[in-house]
Amino acid sequence: MRIGTPSGVVEPENDVDSRKEIILFAASAGSRYKEHMSGPTIAQKSPIVQKVDPGTYYWCACGKSKSQPFCDGSHKCTGFAPVKTEITEARTVAWCGCKHTSNPCFCDGSHSKL
Ligand code: FES
Repeated sequence: MRIGTPSGVVEPENDVDSRKEIILFAASAGSRYKEHMSGPTIAQKSPIVQKVDPGTYYWCACGKSKSQPFCDGSHKCTGFAPVKTEITEARTVAWCGCKHTSNPCFCDGSHSKL
């Protein structure tokens, strides 16, 4: 488990494992991360389907971005971090819009249970 700095600030890396570490850290850190502990904001209860070109994308995991499904930096102080993904060929992607997927960054149908 990653340990926060003396000031309590956590510098997450942009991957799912780091996100899990943050959740564990938040559980022990108390009210500072209360918003995170209540889960991500649901941006929408359906996938965001787009045709995308090959490249690197940063999927918003906190649900607060105004540029869904991508990170715009709004996650600051939420305990969440964007999830980096590489798209290797042009294709249609169903990005998770509810932020509760078990397969970040992609829709797994979890929105139907919210
Ligand atoms: S992860 Fe949501 S704005 Fe960055």
